Amino acid sequence: MVKPYQAFLDKILIPEAELQARIRELAAEINRDYAGEELLVICILRGGVMFLTDLIRHINIPLAIEFMAVSSYGAGARASQGDVRITLDLNTTIFGKHVIIVEDIIDSGHTLSSVIDLLKTREPASIYICTLLDKYERREVDVPIRYCGFKIQNEFVFGYGLDMDEYYRNLPFVATVDLDKYEPPSG
Ligand code: PRP
Repeated sequence: MVKPYQAFLDKILIPEAELQARIRELAAEINRDYAGEELLVICILRGGVMFLTDLIRHINIPLAIEFMAVSSYGAGARASQGDVRITLDLNTTIFGKHVIIVEDIIDSGHTLSSVIDLLKTREPASIYICTLLDKYERREVDVPIRYCGFKIQNEFVFGYGLDMDEYYRNLPFVATVDLDKYEPPSG
């Protein structure tokens, strides 16, 4: 039985209105930076989905969207080894295109570092990162972030794309977990 998030909520870290206001600011920056161009926006599944759909609503230059999914090698670990496996690749070429990668969170940096290295070999005209959250204290490998919604402390967060055992991604805010109260769903 999956419990409602209130059972283990520590605090609402970024309320919906604050998220949406910042996302509009990021979109305005992108609109300025890419005026007269066209864009390919690549969302890294699954966490980036909520952010992508809200962000692109406020981008007023022509764009296409694509999706990629990656997973780290190693049992149950994040991409701490630096190698990621592409589990869903792009459907189009990025050669000569202006690419923005949209992510929910950058933690160690290994995921996006590997993704950027791979995509650069496909020779886009440019490639930049737009992340909603930057858990900068955890960084192990430097990742150049052009657009960042919020820098956050090293706290366990969920909501707005970020999951707890795959649930709660749909919440419209980012919250922190009281780990003493959280039990993974059984089954
Ligand atoms: C999260 C997040 C990033 C990655 C960041 O994805 O969406 O892709 O971890 O961590 P890193 O900077 O330490 O590499 P996750 O593997 O949890 O998958 P998800 O998006 O499907 O939740």
